Amino acid sequence: MSALAVTSLAPPMGLLAELTHRCPLRCPYCSNPLELERGAGELDTATWLRVLDEAADLGILQVHFSGGEPTVRRDLPDLVRRAAERQLYSNLITSGVMLDERMLGGLVEAGLDHVQLSFQDVETGNAERIGGMAGAQAKKRAAAALIQHAGLPLTVNLVIHRQNIDHLPAMIALGAELRAERIEVAHVQYYGWGLVNRDALLPSRAQLEAATAEVEAARGRFKGRMVIDYVTPDYYAERPKACMGGWGRRFINITPAGKALPCHAAETLPGLTFPSVREASLAAIWRDAPAFERYRGTDWMVEPCRSCDRREIDWGGCRCQALALTGDAANADPACALSPHHGAMRAAIAAADRATAPGFVYRRIGAAPTVEA
Ligand code: SF4
Ligand code: FES
Repeated sequence: MSALAVTSLAPPMGLLAELTHRCPLRCPYCSNPLELERGAGELDTATWLRVLDEAADLGILQVHFSGGEPTVRRDLPDLVRRAAERQLYSNLITSGVMLDERMLGGLVEAGLDHVQLSFQDVETGNAERIGGMAGAQAKKRAAAALIQHAGLPLTVNLVIHRQNIDHLPAMIALGAELRAERIEVAHVQYYGWGLVNRDALLPSRAQLEAATAEVEAARGRFKGRMVIDYVTPDYYAERPKACMGGWGRRFINITPAGKALPCHAAETLPGLTFPSVREASLAAIWRDAPAFERYRGTDWMVEPCRSCDRREIDWGGCRCQALALTGDAANADPACALSPHHGAMRAAIAAADRATAPGFVYRRIGAAPTVEA
């Protein structure tokens, strides 16, 4: 597909509404940027309501309310209600630690469709060490019970890495115990905080192979009862994933301050100016913004992607990973074995196979990252 054809393509399928960067947890693989937005800079309720209207008018089908922790926003029920009124399927992506009966009741009454609840591990001590919050595990379990009691479909999100991956069988069992309809087992993606903590998080090849075998076995055990999705790690791949389904093709991400991005890490890319929903409509941004056009389609590609027969399958992989590891976002994602930079990933894997893990650099608003044991 050429860039010209893509500009006339369908609207985005999903709106990723990053309502806030505020969060009681401090996960060292957080997908938020290193520069976190303070509460004072967040969009107000009226603007979010307008964005939801524009999303529906544009033909978007799903809205994912995320953060940070989206339940810190007191107006969340109002936003969910507007999504429901406009026939947008609403998904709440939450740590669950602030979700009490009253709040969940309000969200259900407003028309919430689905919840994704994250667990850092099955073992309380390790889970709370990874998430950086004492007391979180009991609150998450309580939230899962409330969600189940409310009859909402539940997906349990399990982000795995070298410091919890050996517990994957018990983590999957936890999802079943909580009566999740779906479990998403996702390896950490290594940009932003994940890249800062890569040496602490990247699993060894033996760990990866054991986890992959466990997912396959669990899919058999839970067939017909629970779906298990598996997001594999780029670092052990031979070909990249189509990050975000391709740049500017399937998703539009709105930051807490209102910037519209093709992916949550796009602000790391130099030379791009991202428009704000404070000043432009979603439709105009999706159609016309140069930052969305920049890596849309295939015309921007260099070799080896330009002449590759997978260029309209994976769209060259991840721009942000290409930038972080090769210095140029237009290069093939180094997850691709055809990339001349693939060796950077091989080197990181070799280090993961030998090294002992360093301490985490926990995410933190408004402070330089510090290493903690
Ligand atoms: Fe994908 Fe580019 Fe690798 Fe081809 S060369 S598989 S398009 S990343
Ligand atoms: Fe930005 Fe992959 S995270 S393109």
